[in-house]
Order: sequence, then C-alpha cells, then structure tokens
Amino acid sequence: DADSMKERYEDSFDIGAAVELYQLEGVHGEILKRHYNSLVAENVMKPLYIQPEEGVFYWDDADQIADFARENDMTLRYHTLIWHNQVPDWFFEDENGEPMVDETDPDKRAENKEVLLERIETHVKTVVDRYKDVVDAWDVVNEVIDDGEPNDEGLRESPLYQIAGKDYIRTAFEAAREAGGEDAKLFINDYNTEINPKRDNLYSLVEDLLDEGVPIDGFGHQAHIQLDWPTLNEIEESIEMFAGLGLDTHITELDVSLYGWPPEPAYESYDAIPDEEFERQADRYNALFNLYERHDDDISNVTFWGIADDHTWLDDRAEEYNDGVGKDAPFVFDTDFNTKPAFDAIMDAYEEE
Ligand code: G3I
Repeated sequence: DADSMKERYEDSFDIGAAVELYQLEGVHGEILKRHYNSLVAENVMKPLYIQPEEGVFYWDDADQIADFARENDMTLRYHTLIWHNQVPDWFFEDENGEPMVDETDPDKRAENKEVLLERIETHVKTVVDRYKDVVDAWDVVNEVIDDGEPNDEGLRESPLYQIAGKDYIRTAFEAAREAGGEDAKLFINDYNTEINPKRDNLYSLVEDLLDEGVPIDGFGHQAHIQLDWPTLNEIEESIEMFAGLGLDTHITELDVSLYGWPPEPAYESYDAIPDEEFERQADRYNALFNLYERHDDDISNVTFWGIADDHTWLDDRAEEYNDGVGKDAPFVFDTDFNTKPAFDAIMDAYEEE
C-alpha cells in the first residue's frame, strides 16, 4: 500500500503543488518531496516577476523552483507565459509611456498591435528557451475568457485583447511551439470551466483555435471549487468535453474551499472550524479523486494550488471581502502540517479491480 500521494497515483497522473520560494525548504519542502512529483510556481514565473522592465529578465526566483524540480526529479508546470493579470505596466504602454489601449487613431492602433505581438513573442521565446529542459507543460495563456457573456469573438476584454485582438493567443502559442519544439506541451488554462455560459463559450473558442491551426496540446481546469459547487456531474461533463477535443487534461489549481462567495459561514479562526466540515471536505476529495482516476486516460496531472492550510490565496479573499474573517482550509494537510481526513480520503479513493 502506498503511503504517499505520488505513489498512490503513480499509475494514473502526476500530483503537483503550487509553491512560493520559501516553501522549497523546511517542513513544506519535506512534504513536497514526499508526496508530490510535480511543481508549479504560485507567482514567481508570471510576467510581472520575470520581465519587470522591457528586456530586463529576472531569473533568480524562477531558477530556484526549476532547480528544485530538476534535483528532485519532479515535472514542472510553467504558470504562466501570458496573462492579463500580474503583468508589468510597460507591456501595454507605447514608447512615450502612454497606455496603448486609449489610442483612437486606427493607424497607431495597428502599430501598437505589432509592438505588443512582438513583446509577446520575445517574452515567450526567451522563457521557453531557458526552461524547456525541465518544463513538462506550459500554461501559454491563462483566463482568456470572461465568466459572463464574452465579446463577439468570445474573449475577455483585457488590454491583450483590446490591443491585439484574438491574434495574441495565436502569437503566444506559435512562439512557444517555435522555441519549445514538438515536445513542449502547450496548455490553455482557465477557472470555472464547469459553469455555463463560460464552459460552452470556452469550448467553442478552443475548437475554433484548433480549427485555425493554433498549436494547443492541453486544457487546464483550474478547479478552484467548493464543498458542493460545482456538482460532480458538471465537473465530469467538462472534463469529458475538453478531452473530447483530443487535448491532454490537467487539473491545474485544485483547492476545495469551505466557503461560498462571499466567504460564509465565516469561521473566526482555524480552530473554530468544526470537524464536520473536514469530514464533508474528505467526502468531496474522495469523490473527486475517484472521478479523476476513472478519467486517468485523459488526465495526466492533478496539481493543488498550495500545500497545507497555513498558506492559501483564499485567505487573501477573506482579507479583501470579509475583514479577514473566514480562515479557509482547502488542502489535505492542516496548518500544523498533519494530514487531514481529506488526505485519507484521497489515499483510499477507488482502486481498480
Ligand atoms: O509581491 C508583493 C509583495 O512585494 C507585497 O509586499 C505584497 C503586499 O500585498 O504583495 C505581493 O504580491 C502579491 C502576490 O500574490 C505575491 O504574493 C499580490 O499582492 C497578490 O495579489 C498576489 O496574489 C496571487 C494572485 O494569483 C494574483 O492574481 C496569489 O498569490 C496567487 O495564488 C493567485 O493565483 C491565481 C493563478 O495565478 C491563476 N488562477 C487563479 C489563482 C488564484 O487567484
């Protein structure tokens, strides 16, 4: 019987975790080495950190994550080559430091588009070149579509779209393919992939991009989910739909929040969370991994968006919307790094006859 998550699922998919630099050491580092065989940077590989000024690349932090993956024989997911968020201001400014999106002159707009596409190409190729030996999967673009009704072309109205239109996606994928070769696995990644109208809009978009010859190899479901949202059926349908396009499937940012939106019921502290909540969460994780395992022909990586309950982006949400009340507990290790009921639930999940 396996006693680590990575052994338990070695015949099915890689088990990954998102990390900040400090988590490569100490008890986090120990848990990482024991239970996970895949890694992703929670922040330091995003454009804001990698190319803070035009032509000035900052590799130190990203290198540490890449080295940890190399040394410990882990696969690395690169998150993310292009995103509208956590991107430096200069990316969307013209040579006078003015925002490109405010441009009304159509000629100027076309010029700006060329400049932006070149920036995307340079950024993507430079990064892919540096890490292609260790990166197994690239989030080439992230969150390109809105939750609600998207615009005519089905995309989010981000500066990327407003300046370059849909072409920014093609440029990013083609640059990644050119630099990474056929071995580079190129992903489009998004959240709420289970929920309509977003799910169907995203599906049409990916289908169109594939028809147009954009080199996409994989689809990333972020899976920032809750105890009973979305339903298991919705999750399964969505996995089947996108895999049906012939794409590799990764679960890229898994966490199971105890709360809805806004965070309610909001527990005053971690200790105030009742045991029943952890039991419900264990049931949820059990059902989920059971489902993932049934789809292991399609799913090749399941990555958690963190390691233990001491550190989760969900707590920033409580800070922002709930005066800090509503400590969340989305993972399978608790704030003292002990395993939770959810851990046992994952280890015991469905075993094929
Ligand atoms: O680096 C600065 C630091 O210098 C400053 O002192 C501190 C003060 O607030 O902020 C630090 O930046 C924070 C950054 O994380 C690094 O810690 C930002 O404020 C904070 O907004 C940022 O949050 C990240 C968020 O993406 C940004 O949108 C989260 O850690 C990260 O978990 C989250 O990850 C995203 C995925 O990339 C895409 N999918 C959704 C997922 C969750 O939102």
